[in-house]
Amino acid sequence: MLLGVNIDHVATLRNARGGNDPAVIKAAQICEIAGADGITTHLREDRRHIKDEDVYNLKKILKVRLNLEMAVTEEMGKIALDVLPDNCCLVPEKRQELTTEGGLDVAGQLEKITQFVKKLVDAGIIVSLFIDPSEEQVKAAAKTGAQFIELHTGAYSEAFGSEKEEIEFQKLKNAAKLAQSLGLKVNAGHGLTYENVHRMHEIEGLIELNIGHNIIAKAVFDGLESAVKEMKSLIK
Ligand code: PXP
Repeated sequence: MLLGVNIDHVATLRNARGGNDPAVIKAAQICEIAGADGITTHLREDRRHIKDEDVYNLKKILKVRLNLEMAVTEEMGKIALDVLPDNCCLVPEKRQELTTEGGLDVAGQLEKITQFVKKLVDAGIIVSLFIDPSEEQVKAAAKTGAQFIELHTGAYSEAFGSEKEEIEFQKLKNAAKLAQSLGLKVNAGHGLTYENVHRMHEIEGLIELNIGHNIIAKAVFDGLESAVKEMKSLIK
């Protein structure tokens, strides 16, 4: 299985002070060196973390794939066609949400999404639709011309360790199987952690996992001890 590392929260931290530290580009390069198969980034309409400039810079320097997550809007369509990332993942977006809370309603806006997908695919971009693991959404996704779906693992992640885990997990498994039978390739992501990721191996044929928050959170703790020691030695 491949790993796409979502680096949005490096930008969240950077934006807290307005400068360029920690630098998004440097973070992406470290992820590449560490074996990430792709770098994922969500250019939100409110630009709360990743900025346009980051996306252009990432496209310039990355050796691995750039996966641009974005809403289905005219503005984002124009940016994607200008940047030409390797992959685009279409996601729903609500301004007030803390993170992408649910999957894209493909079934409810089939025509709009099909037209949007066509423009990206015609430009050579591989398109994925971020959807909930429901039969209705998978069947609709298969009609759009998108090559991939990314199954929203948020409900599974939240249920992990509770009595609802198995129900949410089976939804993912069934949705992946249905999607593959309809010719779609399947990725997954959202809310995955070092504790709950292992079950993704039980879903046959998953191609890539996109993981962000928990990797960045772990990186803070893994780096904190040496960061404090270095500062302490400088001021001794
Ligand atoms: N996949 C998609 C489509 C997302 O929107 C996000 C969050 O931006 C992720 C994966 C990564 O989720 P997390 O940060 O919870 O690992």
